[in-house]
Amino acid sequence: MSDGETFCVYGAPPSALADVPSGAVQVSPLVPGAKALETIRPASLAGAVIAAPPGAIERRYVLALALRALKPGAPLIAMAPKEKGGARLRKELETFGCVVQDAGRQHQRICHTERPQVLAPLEPALEAGALQYSPALGLWTQPGVFSWDRIDPGTRQLMKALPPLSGRGADFGCGLGVLAQAALASQAVTALALIDLDRRAIGAAKHNVEDPRATLHWADVLTAPDLSDLDFVVMNPPFHDQGVENRALGQVFIRRAHQALRKGGSLWLVANRHMPYEAVLNELFAHVTPQVTIKGDVGGYKLYEARR
Ligand SMILES: C[S@@+](CC[C@H](N)C(=O)[O-])C[C@H]1O[C@@H](n2cnc3c(N)ncnc32)[C@H](O)[C@@H]1O
Repeated sequence: MSDGETFCVYGAPPSALADVPSGAVQVSPLVPGAKALETIRPASLAGAVIAAPPGAIERRYVLALALRALKPGAPLIAMAPKEKGGARLRKELETFGCVVQDAGRQHQRICHTERPQVLAPLEPALEAGALQYSPALGLWTQPGVFSWDRIDPGTRQLMKALPPLSGRGADFGCGLGVLAQAALASQAVTALALIDLDRRAIGAAKHNVEDPRATLHWADVLTAPDLSDLDFVVMNPPFHDQGVENRALGQVFIRRAHQALRKGGSLWLVANRHMPYEAVLNELFAHVTPQVTIKGDVGGYKLYEARR
């Protein structure tokens, strides 16, 4: 690479499958502080390695953004697990005018290509994957954000069950901000911190929660500072880490909520029924009150108020 040229990496491609130069710029929206691929000057990058995301609209958007940012002739390596978009990657790149060589390794499809001199139109993919207003939801949203095209049924149940809250609170893993909207419906709430690891969620939530009491933070809940003495926390905790079910993640969210609450403060939590959260709730909180158990399409949900 010559001076001033930049290489970018999206996500965490396995090191055995592609060399990422040291100093490559991280552009995944799931890495707080990373540069946004959207802001990179067209035809300026010397190369890119993309661990492509699983959602089709989101993936085509990322590929289109990367191709727009690359110089003509610059190398692009994109990969994805076969059953999570990898099988479609080659075709998707070819639709943009790329000549692709692909191979399979470690359950992934790995595509090598170069940014063609003449690209097929990128606009349809760029538009489909961008931040957008959904009239059906009445919300700003973006493909790739959790439950971006429907309100999650568990979240909906928690929204209905929340009592009028009061004081200072936080929405851990706020997504589009719908639990925050429900919390802020109570005028007795004085401040609410919305926190999410996903920059796109925070971007959408900024539009969905225009309220002077709200502050938005693109951050990891587990390491975010300044969370103490809260009166309440609301959450539908994540249970996937990089596409793989991770039951421990919700438990860590519960521990973090316990640290952040004042004595007597409440955690309002919804979870899929099979998630093993009771032991940690009972270990940490003085009073754990199951609210209702709801039969849902994925085995049902459970709701708790846990009072510190
Ligand atoms: C199950 S979704 C719930 C989203 C939203 N509260 C709702 O109910 O629709 C969990 C959210 O947590 C976010 N998340 C995952 N890990 C996180 C972390 N370590 N710190 C902050 N947010 C995280 C995800 O990006 C996702 O938006």
